[in-house]
Amino acid sequence: MVRHFLKDDDISPAEQATIIRRAIELKKAPYSQRPFEGPKTVALIFDKTSTRTRVSFAVGVADLGGVPLIIDSQTSQMGGKESVADTARVLERQVAAIVWRTYAQAGLEEMAANSSVPVINSLSDDWHPCQLLADLMTIHEHKGQLAGLKLAYVGDASNNMANSYLVACAMAGMTVSIAAPAEYLPAATVVARAENIAAETGGSVEVHGDPVLAVMHADVVVTDTWISMGQEQEKAKRIRDFNGFGVSAELMAHAKPGAIFMHCLPAYRGYEVSAEVLDGPQSVIWDEAENRLHAQKALLTFLAEHTK
Ligand code: CP
Ligand code: NVA
Repeated sequence: MVRHFLKDDDISPAEQATIIRRAIELKKAPYSQRPFEGPKTVALIFDKTSTRTRVSFAVGVADLGGVPLIIDSQTSQMGGKESVADTARVLERQVAAIVWRTYAQAGLEEMAANSSVPVINSLSDDWHPCQLLADLMTIHEHKGQLAGLKLAYVGDASNNMANSYLVACAMAGMTVSIAAPAEYLPAATVVARAENIAAETGGSVEVHGDPVLAVMHADVVVTDTWISMGQEQEKAKRIRDFNGFGVSAELMAHAKPGAIFMHCLPAYRGYEVSAEVLDGPQSVIWDEAENRLHAQKALLTFLAEHTK
């Protein structure tokens, strides 16, 4: 039996809570878990660029006693030359886990279907579930709880981060409140999935066209770039379309007084968020970036334990 993590709800709400608790413990005792002692190797494959994900997984695998093998897909046989299934069959015989940042979710599913070792989605066009483990950990650190809190996401609600916020925050029993231009709302299937999960956990989902309504009384305000990787040719149109959907100090004033601001980064000051907010006292972005390390180590140990 092998456990993969391709999207936020590939773990149960109880398992999500376990992983976050373990991440908080690992932050205090970074070398207390050694599942990759040997050392075993973990493949980290990148089809898209990365700073945080590359560094945090490489450092995390080393902290857990293993060796990270970073594979740039442009210089491998992947990417049209050799199938994903054949790549999985080669990797599974030599590595303890496969971490892959890619475009289509279907590729990750094909990799997982052909792998006897855990496959982890480190960002696809549809989901960024590792980021959400770090974000939930960061919210827990700053607010002491998750269930019952309100998180507002303002900006491109049709992207991977919005999808992951909807599902992962609903799993944690939070209220997820989205504001986006009509053309950039989340898919109805994703909203329905989050609503179904929220019905079980006590969370809820709100979708607004007005950022002020979304942010009202929020404990956490988040945003993400308006131009995700792969959308660079739409830059001019998107900057026009998202006018009025940037997070400013004025917008933050509608959240609760002690609200925190988060952003998965990289951020574009003056577009989705003002420099005043991103670099201001409510921003916890550097804790959030560091917590990628701790949360992913907790995830890797969890998947290793559940793969026998
Ligand atoms: N947030 C995030 O995934 O950052 P990188 O693109 O730098 O990995
Ligand atoms: N939505 C962004 C997240 C970057 C970490 C992207 O996919 O480019």
